[in-house]
Amino acid sequence: MKISFVFASLFSATLAVETLKATPVVTSSNSKFGGGIEGLAVDSAGSIFAVNFNGQLAAIGQAVPSQKLMYQDKANPTSLFNGIRFSADCSGNEQAFVADAINHRVVRLSDRTSAGFRNATVFCQDPGMLQPNDIAIAPSSGRVFLSGMNYQATTKVGDGDLWTCDKNGKATKLGQFQRTNGIEVSPDEKTLYLSESTNKGGAVISNIIYAFDLNSKAGQISNKRVFADFGKLDKSAAIDIDGMRTDTQGNLYVARNGNGKVAKLSPSGKLLAYINVPGIMSVGNLEFGGKSGTDLYIGGKCEKDAKKGCVSVYKGKAAGRAFNDLQHHSKGSAAPTASA
Ligand SMILES: *[C@@H]1O[C@H](CO)[C@@H](O)[C@H](O)[C@H]1NC(C)=O
Repeated sequence: MKISFVFASLFSATLAVETLKATPVVTSSNSKFGGGIEGLAVDSAGSIFAVNFNGQLAAIGQAVPSQKLMYQDKANPTSLFNGIRFSADCSGNEQAFVADAINHRVVRLSDRTSAGFRNATVFCQDPGMLQPNDIAIAPSSGRVFLSGMNYQATTKVGDGDLWTCDKNGKATKLGQFQRTNGIEVSPDEKTLYLSESTNKGGAVISNIIYAFDLNSKAGQISNKRVFADFGKLDKSAAIDIDGMRTDTQGNLYVARNGNGKVAKLSPSGKLLAYINVPGIMSVGNLEFGGKSGTDLYIGGKCEKDAKKGCVSVYKGKAAGRAFNDLQHHSKGSAAPTASA
């Protein structure tokens, strides 16, 4: 009786949180990205992009299916690019928004050919923005949402913020928090997720994710509630949350930076699975891509060489929210027309 009881509880414990594993795609031996790789983002073709191409702060590159430079701000080499997101402009042409943390702005990249983006303009900017760090897009309104932080040994509310820019680039501050980083919108665009990390005396003491009711058209949030508290979920309050992405079923995938893994949460905030990411030291950002949009690409500093950026992939079943939105809104990147 006793033995079968122990067996039964072990069995249900394994069922409760699944352990999955990603496999390396971009490794320390072939990577063209620096250790500051961040902001993984997908276009309508399922290609994956990230910042810190050639180790440059002001450069973004394609990471998958092949590595190549897509844009470099040569006039402002100290621009610090971070989050990236693709969307369609009002004519359905694909554009990319890139957070520039140092200059407190979001840059819009357009006019893309196979050689990269040819046009960069400031989309929105406000000296009051702490950064932006990561960004999320609500495609029906064209609104961009931005997180940002001021890293201090002991943080206070105001060392993290949340901003939105409307489709014309008008910036509005939506709130103050402890350090904010991961940011994402649910597939029905009715919920905004935002991570918050708190430091005390040099130690990280809390990592939670808030959910808000989102009015994407008006750019308003309400009904702030704790969606997930990693101190309670798995006693990992001291491990920073980094990038977050939803799939089309509303599951939220959360990079658990220092833990070398990704946590998968259900739409109600239940911990469903861990995706282990061997070869990556600090798991920073993630995005679904590939031909069907179901491959979760996960990026961060390589374990073997912290000066290099690595990417691994976990093959999932549901497509990513961003990939799926682009299938509906975008005509795809304007491929260069071969002139006869
Ligand atoms: C670059 O993009 C801006 C903003 O969308 C646009 O107004 C401008 O016409 C574009 N410039 C070129 C040369 O395409």
